[in-house]
Amino acid sequence: MQAMVYRGPCRVRVENKEKPAIEHPNDAIVRVTCAAICGSDLHLYHGLMPDTRVGMTFGHEFVGVVDEVGPSVQNVRPGDRVMVPFNICCGSCYFCARELYSCCHNVNPNASAVGGIYGYSHTCGGYDGGQAEYVRVPFADVGPTAIPDWMEEEDAVLLTDACPTGYQGAEMGSIKEGDVVVVFGAGPVGLFAAKSSWLMGAGRVIVIDHLDYRLEKAREFAHAETINFTQVDDIVLHLKKLTDYLGADVCIDAVGAEADGSFWQVVSNNKLKLQGGSPVALNWAIDSVRKAGTVSVVGAYGPLFSAVKFGDVMNKGLTIRSAQCSVKRHWPRLFQHVKNGVLKPSAIVTHRVPLNEIAEGYHIMASKLDECVKSLVYTSPH
Ligand SMILES: NC(=O)c1ccc[n+]([C@@H]2O[C@H](COP(=O)([O-])OP(=O)(O)OC[C@H]3O[C@@H](n4cnc5c(N)ncnc54)[C@H](O)[C@@H]3O)[C@@H](O)[C@H]2O)c1
Ligand SMILES: [Zn+2]
Ligand SMILES: [Zn+2]
Repeated sequence: MQAMVYRGPCRVRVENKEKPAIEHPNDAIVRVTCAAICGSDLHLYHGLMPDTRVGMTFGHEFVGVVDEVGPSVQNVRPGDRVMVPFNICCGSCYFCARELYSCCHNVNPNASAVGGIYGYSHTCGGYDGGQAEYVRVPFADVGPTAIPDWMEEEDAVLLTDACPTGYQGAEMGSIKEGDVVVVFGAGPVGLFAAKSSWLMGAGRVIVIDHLDYRLEKAREFAHAETINFTQVDDIVLHLKKLTDYLGADVCIDAVGAEADGSFWQVVSNNKLKLQGGSPVALNWAIDSVRKAGTVSVVGAYGPLFSAVKFGDVMNKGLTIRSAQCSVKRHWPRLFQHVKNGVLKPSAIVTHRVPLNEIAEGYHIMASKLDECVKSLVYTSPH
């Protein structure tokens, strides 16, 4: 089969790989029809995630058709159109029982550090991902769900990560009615976090980025106020002025390890890898939130330490919440929002590339060329 393969930092290509086979009675093999490239894939692409092995296939956002199932699988059958959450999870451990699927304890030899994620390095279990014609789906009775007839494929693929992650980012902010919410990052996750903040009762939503075309998307898709942080002297002070000098009630970090905004942080942490990424956006969030406010972190950081302003967290009495999204927990509510027309996840898609041109797709996403917000990958002509 054809699959995207990692060859080293900033080098990916399509290769012929052996089609995956059933390895456990509860496995399924899914023929991928549509996948997506995530901002998280860029951390792998840039060589920032430990134990990303040459030969690995990325891709944790995908939908497809069940091709084959192991003998104990009961919930899906060959021919079913399914969407697969990015978390690999067992469904029965301490964490899964509490719907904390991203913390599943049975799917990763590094279980005490993180759960399992498709195509996300051996740190996250070493599973091949879905930027390929076929993918092995473990615990097929737990993750994959039939795509409802009324749901479009492109909405379904966005519901496997970006949309629920933004939604959980807002949820972890514990937004109260009328709250001022500041979202750092106008990528797919930030756009969904901003949109979700309104659904949870925010009175004002402000999105920060330095890419004007993405800020335009934040105004149009998420009806947010926007600020380009390169066009103000000091973004923290600017936000204080906008919030009666108290600060925002809730700040959401939807940027993560590859934040811009400080030349030295980018050089020392992203180029020389002296920290687990550049915590610029996270520190801005800590500085811009009011005392006793909440900072919700969905941006991803490397396991290595980062110089986060923890003294300020303590002195200001902040609540910090963070997580890899537990995707499936949010599906019942998000399905309703999509069905009712409140949310159109695919509205943020800007690019569609065939699998055999995925290297170009990565390049465009990573360099933010051609006004790219979100790229989908199609395995057959589209
Ligand atoms: N927690 C989860 O489950 C989960 C799931 C998906 C993605 N993520 C993470 O969320 C983050 C965002 O993902 P994405 O797909 O939207 O990525 P993305 O790269 O498309 O978006 C990040 C945005 O942040 C902007 N940015 C850079 N520095 C900034 C700063 N200092 N302040 C404000 N904005 C800044 C960039 O210009 C970009 O538009 C990534 O770190 C990704 O790994 C986490
Ligand atoms: Zn992702
Ligand atoms: Zn589990």
